[in-house]
Amino acid sequence: MTATIIDGKSIAEIVRADVAKRTAALKVKTGVTPGLAVVLVGADPASQVYVRNKHKQTLEVGMASFEHKLPDTTPEADLLALVAMLNARADVHGILVQLPLPKHIDSEKVLRAINPDKDVDGFHPVNVGRLSIGEPCLTPCTPSGCIILAKSAQPDLKGLDAVVIGRSTIVGKPVAQLLLREDCTVTIAHSRTRDLPSVVRRADLVIAAVGRPEMVKGDWLKPGAIVIDVGINRVPTADGKTKLVGDVAFQECLSVAGAITPVPGGVGPMTIACLLKNTLEATERSLGLTT
Ligand code: GUN
Repeated sequence: MTATIIDGKSIAEIVRADVAKRTAALKVKTGVTPGLAVVLVGADPASQVYVRNKHKQTLEVGMASFEHKLPDTTPEADLLALVAMLNARADVHGILVQLPLPKHIDSEKVLRAINPDKDVDGFHPVNVGRLSIGEPCLTPCTPSGCIILAKSAQPDLKGLDAVVIGRSTIVGKPVAQLLLREDCTVTIAHSRTRDLPSVVRRADLVIAAVGRPEMVKGDWLKPGAIVIDVGINRVPTADGKTKLVGDVAFQECLSVAGAITPVPGGVGPMTIACLLKNTLEATERSLGLTT
């Protein structure tokens, strides 16, 4: 068997096109333009790339983009004051504070300062709680992207045995909650899990989010399984350069899986697409157009 390769790039384009269409309709109906504010503190190169892409794609779907770039010496109090100002602005419907923040700033404190209804990252404890009790809420972007990709391979995930490898707050735990909402039977595996290969072998759907290059091997998979690879690991190559690989040994899994995401070009492109979807939903909710 050769797996279907799930094309995250084109699925992200479809999500963005849908967001752009709904954004245009919302503007006509209400006169309101959804606005996303992104705050970047410092000059981390990867963060600068993310923020640039977010800005570009926000404008492309017809939303307003507000960028706030602050020096890495910014006091925590100044950042909290900026968040308070963005919470109060009527033209800002979504707020994202880019992580990681400089060490002298308490990230948890900053994330908790964001109005949960504008928390388009879905990281605020109120949204984490809403997700776990099944209330409507803003859900974290990378996990939401994983669900959309899994459903592109199999639209109804009901009853599937899903194994999530990794228990992080940003991916592992929220993706497990989203899978529960899809009526999967969910196992969360982690560094202390015993006999991980045999746990993974039970899975109809595997979500790998551990940050260990090519850890999931072909012979760990149930034939036909759907494999979603969240890992982005830079590794050295034989010619002295580097390349990006996921948490899944892609080539060997390709002949066992039913469908699999590549790295790059799988989960990665979905994150910003889902961020824009969240911004639209936050705007609609603020206008009382949805629950
Ligand atoms: N840094 C890398 N990815 C993310 C993300 O999804 N949200 C935030 N806030 N920071 C990030």
